[in-house]
Amino acid sequence: MNVVLGVGGGIAAYKAAELARALMRRNCVVNTVMTASATEFVQPLTFAALTGRKVITGLFDGRSPEAVLASSVEHIGVARENEVLVVAPATADLLAKFTHGLADEFLSTLYLAFAGPVVLAPAMNTNMWDHPATQANLATLRARGHRMVGPDSGDLACGTVGPGRMAEVEAIADAVLAATRRQDLSGETVLISAGPTQEAIDPVRYISNRSSGKMGYALAEAAAARGARVVLVSGPVNLPVPAGVEVVAVRSAREMRDAVMAHLEAATVIVKAAAVADYHVTEIAPQKLKKTAARLTLDLDPTPDILAEVGACKGDRLLIGFAAETQNLVAEARRKMTTKNADMVVGNLVNQAGTGFEADENEVTLVLRSGETHQIARASKRDVAHQIFDHALRLRLALHAKQ
Ligand code: CTP
Repeated sequence: MNVVLGVGGGIAAYKAAELARALMRRNCVVNTVMTASATEFVQPLTFAALTGRKVITGLFDGRSPEAVLASSVEHIGVARENEVLVVAPATADLLAKFTHGLADEFLSTLYLAFAGPVVLAPAMNTNMWDHPATQANLATLRARGHRMVGPDSGDLACGTVGPGRMAEVEAIADAVLAATRRQDLSGETVLISAGPTQEAIDPVRYISNRSSGKMGYALAEAAAARGARVVLVSGPVNLPVPAGVEVVAVRSAREMRDAVMAHLEAATVIVKAAAVADYHVTEIAPQKLKKTAARLTLDLDPTPDILAEVGACKGDRLLIGFAAETQNLVAEARRKMTTKNADMVVGNLVNQAGTGFEADENEVTLVLRSGETHQIARASKRDVAHQIFDHALRLRLALHAKQ
């Protein structure tokens, strides 16, 4: 695999040389692009000697960025499939340039021309990291689906202690490999449920919840990108349908149950990301209920537990559930995994600012049938979706190996 290693001008630039080696150990061909200030920290010759490839520096040599890019496209393989752009260290300046689409030197120009996955390993002084400008830039870049690795916390070169140190090179190299969109779900049918359900009270009112469907839709998009046939059973949401995904629109828990069961046979992986209502109104009023001075009591009956029903007849299909919690995340996720016979439960704290319901980002804990738990750090829902599938596929291999 060809990787473009973009090196920014920070003290951590020397670690980028180790990253080049870590990538080469993973059978990557490394093409280095350095900003002008990066060359103040490390000589281009270091990377040229390590990688055996010509290094592109940040200078345009008096030519326009477009002319440099045009003449170099072949060399750095910008447009080639399955390539990754990894920027380490990603300085505050580079993050700002990427966010705003500046193309005033080679690396930021390359960023704009690059269509593949992008991995960023930020490194900077803690105050620069904490600054609202940097944090806003990071949010934009994460929303574009770029994978962030680090920064770690610790002693910084500037003498302070806090977040800002570039992540370990092995972690960055692993993220580069994970970012390549392998077609590892081709031949599979992935059945996903997403969004809330609506339980009618009368013809104009219903009981529902705050689920936006974003996580389930991100999972559908990720599965389709990895080559799966995707059937998305969706409660009422306001989201565009991801390309290539078949949608079955439903409203109530009962309708969702029937749609899921109807598509179960063909599915090899089932992801129950929907926030299903636990109760429905016992008798839906045929006409609009009229207001009176008296107290109104609604009788509610439990809805079918779709995840548990699928768990009871899933065979060797991989079943992934969700647990939306406000406390005791891991214990509750584990309990749901066991009682509903899921292979993995994605635990989601839904009372934190910026993640969970309605948010564009998420931060989840995976509880696996194998006994492991994995923490997925805050990232765009698209990125989290890919990481969920990475773990799910690994889990399935481990479970099959055991049999
Ligand atoms: N689920 C389901 N059918 C239901 C309720 C939940 O299939 N009637 C699924 C959800 O899609 C999710 C998992 O079960 O994958 C857990 O949902 P959650 O709402 O977190 O838990 P509940 O089972 O409803 O338990 P509790 O209300 O005690 O948290």
